[in-house]
Amino acid sequence: MKTLLSIFILAALPVLSLAAGHADSESARVNIDVSDKAAMQDGVQTFVTYCMGCHSARFQRYERVADDLGIPHDVMLGKLMLTGAKLGDHMVSAMQPVDARLWLGVAPPDLTLVARVRGTDWLYDYLRSFYEDPARPWGVNNTVFPNVAMPNVLAGLQGRQVIDCEKSHAPMPGSSVPRDGCDRLTILPGTGSLSEGQFDDKVKNLVTFLAYSANPDKLQHQRIGTYVLLYLAILFAFAYLLKREYWKDMR
Ligand code: HEC
Repeated sequence: MKTLLSIFILAALPVLSLAAGHADSESARVNIDVSDKAAMQDGVQTFVTYCMGCHSARFQRYERVADDLGIPHDVMLGKLMLTGAKLGDHMVSAMQPVDARLWLGVAPPDLTLVARVRGTDWLYDYLRSFYEDPARPWGVNNTVFPNVAMPNVLAGLQGRQVIDCEKSHAPMPGSSVPRDGCDRLTILPGTGSLSEGQFDDKVKNLVTFLAYSANPDKLQHQRIGTYVLLYLAILFAFAYLLKREYWKDMR
């Protein structure tokens, strides 16, 4: 019995860790949960409204997203497909890369896999770190991605964010103490349509959608992991009964 039990536990170990949906080290600070469908539904809405003017998620199909996120096809078609695409189409921006290069200087990268490349913490910080900088072409800069060529498309929601160099952090005359504290960002109150907390949630939902997009099979893996565990448990019960049956007459 003991051997059987240890064999079972050993066999189940990898499945156990899979079923637990091991927390990515990258999502350590902002807690991204790719099984939170409500968050991803909000995220995909933000994505098509605010991002797809420039960016694509060209390895992702509308229909698959609708099915994975529990969005009815008519809602997807009516509310979330703004480019005149068909349900089975990939999520491709209407902006041509050639035009994008002309207008923006660089082509906006495809975002299907960006959560894998950059990590969810980076994305969450990046999207919340635009600040006003009149020296830049779009009037904004970004503390996470200095001199970025992307405008702050979420400014209407977030409000006007400025960089704040506290006097106390300015270097003393004749000293070269670095001006840390110079990257403190402050949102001017009342300039955005969302509160700071609401805006952070919005961005978190958007990043949750991007995390799902970079690894759409993860949801399925977790489901399969649970079934495999269940299967192993039943198999174990039968194996044990069988063993008892065999050994009954041997004693
Ligand atoms: C007006 C066009 C435009 C819109 C709209 C836009 N972006 Fe961008 N984005 C860009 C451009 C251009 C770059 C490349 C910046 C650079 O390389 O300097 C970029 C870069 C990025 C990057 C960095 C990618 C990388 O790994 O280098 C991310 C992430 C990103 N955008 C996310 C978003 C999200 C999310 C939205 C929607 C909320 C959005 N963008 C909306 C133009 C846009």
